[in-house]
Amino acid sequence: MAKYLVTGGAGFLGANIVESLVANGDKVVVLDDFSTGNKRNVQDYKQTEVRVAEGDVCDEKLVRKAARGCDYLLHLAGRVGVESSVKNPEECLRVAFEGTLNALTAARDLKVKRFIYASSCAVYGESPVLPKEESMLASPYNPYGAAALLGEELARVFYATYRLETVCLRLFNVYGPRQATDGPSAGVIGRFSAAILKGEKAEVYGDGKQSRDFVYVSDVVDAFRLACTAPKAEGEVFNIASGARMSVAGLLNGFTQLLERDIEHEAKEARPSDVRHSLADILKAQEVLGYRPRVTIAEGLAKTLLWYKKNLGKAIKGGPRL
Ligand SMILES: NC(=O)c1ccc[n+]([C@@H]2O[C@H](COP(=O)([O-])OP(=O)(O)OC[C@H]3O[C@@H](n4cnc5c(N)ncnc54)[C@H](O)[C@@H]3O)[C@@H](O)[C@H]2O)c1
Repeated sequence: MAKYLVTGGAGFLGANIVESLVANGDKVVVLDDFSTGNKRNVQDYKQTEVRVAEGDVCDEKLVRKAARGCDYLLHLAGRVGVESSVKNPEECLRVAFEGTLNALTAARDLKVKRFIYASSCAVYGESPVLPKEESMLASPYNPYGAAALLGEELARVFYATYRLETVCLRLFNVYGPRQATDGPSAGVIGRFSAAILKGEKAEVYGDGKQSRDFVYVSDVVDAFRLACTAPKAEGEVFNIASGARMSVAGLLNGFTQLLERDIEHEAKEARPSDVRHSLADILKAQEVLGYRPRVTIAEGLAKTLLWYKKNLGKAIKGGPRL
């Protein structure tokens, strides 16, 4: 049994990690300001399993108190979404800088065994070269990507200077249960699922040929857990994805096959902040972390749709009421 601090633990990804840790018998402290996270994600645990520290990761004292006695610090709290970062770059970058620095300082001073940082494929920016390898130049082109890279750089410096064991995970397009269906942290699979369940048209930005490396959330949870203990992972950056890409039109086709009916959709103007294609090389994570994505996109879509069918409007912030 180990003790973890999960910042952003009430969010989509954080809540899935917390659930897995508790199932493993570990103890968890969740630090979250509930700006995009949801109290329902963390309220049903026993006090002995999960302690919730409500507040801002930019509050140094709060972070330090929450990290006391923890073996691992998983840092996921941050302002999410490319579009909201374009609207409010100051807030996105401030939380990335102050929050990550607070979390790293607490981890160093309290002798946390490892610090795992939720970075993003947005660090790769606009380069059309595929697949993305960790050795490629990171060159973000929006504030969200810059914020992710800023966090990575701070983590790298804390490893180089203080020998705090840090691991950065560059997450690609994560989807699955608990993801918001609207707002800044929503993803296309959540939005499509909600539209299908509400009998509305799925909105497709641009021609639908843009593609992403979609990865099911339980595979990402596995990556976080492996990153805590894998030998030789410290000081490193890893792509976490499925290693395959699918177009948005392909997703609609996947839902069509699953439901055995056509999915109504409507074309919307392409979003200028969207990259055209994205695909990860996951060899490094496979070799060093022992990471193996297990859930195929067909299985993942089925599990996700089923979850939304049961929970939509209940467990997700801003979710439609069915
Ligand atoms: N979901 C993805 O596909 C994806 C991809 C790449 C990177 N990431 C990164 O993973 C992390 C988690 O993303 P998510 O998809 O679960 O989003 P999310 O919005 O569901 O989770 C973020 C959590 O952080 C909390 N938070 C935000 N600002 C905070 C602050 N100042 N203090 C305390 N808590 C704060 C929110 O309330 C929320 O619970 C983020 O850092 C995100 O950038 C996610």
